[in-house]
Formats: sequence, structure tokens, C-alpha cells
Amino acid sequence: KEIKVFAPATVANLSCGFDVLGCCLDNVGDEMIIRENDLNEVRITKITGQDLPMEADKNVAGVAVKSLLTRLGSDKGFDIEIDKKILPGSGIGSSAASSAGAVYAVNYLLGEPYTLKELIPFAMAGEMLASGNAHADNVAPALLGGFSLIRSYEPLEVISLPVPPDLKMVILHPLIEIKTRDSRSIIKQNVSLRNAISQWGNLGAFVSALYSNDYELLGRSLKDEIVEPVRSILIPYFSELQKLSKEEGALGFGISGSGPSVFALCKGEKVAEKVRDSIQNFYCKKGIDFNLHLSGIS
Ligand code: HSE
Repeated sequence: KEIKVFAPATVANLSCGFDVLGCCLDNVGDEMIIRENDLNEVRITKITGQDLPMEADKNVAGVAVKSLLTRLGSDKGFDIEIDKKILPGSGIGSSAASSAGAVYAVNYLLGEPYTLKELIPFAMAGEMLASGNAHADNVAPALLGGFSLIRSYEPLEVISLPVPPDLKMVILHPLIEIKTRDSRSIIKQNVSLRNAISQWGNLGAFVSALYSNDYELLGRSLKDEIVEPVRSILIPYFSELQKLSKEEGALGFGISGSGPSVFALCKGEKVAEKVRDSIQNFYCKKGIDFNLHLSGIS
């Protein structure tokens, strides 16, 4: 028995929702093949595209699957093949894609003992290995699709949010690697009341705008006065890119997850293409190497 899955990239935080908000991209992701073996052992049998640990206990997919099997009390074995298209350390949920894809596939092969939501904690075990923190804002949207809100971590409560029909995401990935572990370590641990007020105002409004298809409000809510000012220092020409994207009509612009990728959320394909072309030209002129994606959210 085997299954081939598309393991999608995700954009976490979305400016106003650090660690609690994320969305799933529909055309950027890895491919994985998972098959049952007779060895009662979880093995990473093949990884293409990237140099990542082949030892199951050191690979996020292996760790996530093992946590699922342990909880289930199953001694079944699985071989995992990963065709890694999302670069690790790019900020679009590379480890989350592997963790979520693996637990999704194994759950399917086992006859779906768990719902998609119930799979989230197992995928979070992979995130724990990757970054030292079991955040769910990449694995939840990778498993559930669309937008996810983590209402609470303890106990875990994840809410799926609607996706307005015309949303497009442009992702610009400057080819430098920032480890989530490192970019978490530079964030301040305390938040001022003033910043907290503006952040929860924006997060509430963002959620409301998803329900009402209010694109202008979505744009106004994509702000981050807490994490972005610290992390953006690591991203070449962040403020210039932000200004440029908004001038070209993007609803909002921010850091994707822990960076260095940045995202521009746009209404409609045409605006997204304009934004993409313009930030691409800007980076070309500055001589910075990058990858670029234009994706829907679903
Ligand atoms: N919320 C996490 C962070 C996402 O910003 O560290 C990592 O992709």
C-alpha cells in the first residue's frame, strides 16, 4: 500500500498573528511517497532536492510519523520518500510540509483513525524537532488548507477560516537561509500594552475581513509592530520592498513565517503579477539572488 501526496508550503504569522495565524499555498510544495513496509520500522528511504537527515529520529517527517504511531500503539512500519522543493530555512513552512505530509499519508494508509485536526499535534512534534518550538501556524494550514487560526495552544484549538475568492499571494525568497530557531531567539519576550492593543485589533479585523470578503480591511489589518521591526533587519531591503508592493497595489506585505521570505497579499491575479514583476526587477537591480512564487490560497 502506498500513497503519493502534495505537501504544501504555508505562510505563517501573516503579520498580525504571530504563532496563531497561517495560510496554505496551492501551488508551492513538496511531493512525498509513503508506503507501508514489513519491517515494523519507520524509514526515510529517499530524499531528493535537499540534503536532509535520513535517520528517522532526526528527520521531521520521521519524528512526526513516530509520534502518531506511538499514540496509536501501532507497530506498523513505513518508508518515506521526500522530493523536497521547498528550501529549508526559506520561511514558507518547509519542515511543516514534511511533517504534515507524512502524518497525513500514514493516517490515510492506516484507514484514517484520526481527523485532519487530530493530526495537528503529531505534525507539531516535527516542528519541535526543527525549531525547538511546537508552533502550529504552519502545520495547521498545511493539513486543513485555507487559513487557520490557533485560538489556543493548551489545550490546542484550531479554527479554519474562510478564504475570500480573489486572494493571491506573491512570495519573494531572498536566497539566504534563516533558521526559525535563530529568528525566534532575537524576538523580545515582552510586549508593550500599546503594541498589544494594535496587534489584537488588527488580528480581530483580519478575521472579520475574511468572513466579509473586505479586501481593504484585510490590507489595513496586515500590520505587525511587535515582531516585524526586529526580524525585518535580516531581510535585504525589507522596507523598500514593502513600499514598492503597496505602491503596485498589494493589500499588504510582510515577513512570511520566520523569514527570509516575504509575502505580498493581493486582490486578483493582475495586481499580483504587477507586484511580482516590480519586486523582482528591484532585486535584480540590487543584484540579490531570489526565488519567486505566485500562488493561490486554498
Ligand atoms: N510562527 C513561527 C515563527 C512560524 O514566526 O517563528 C515559523 O515559520
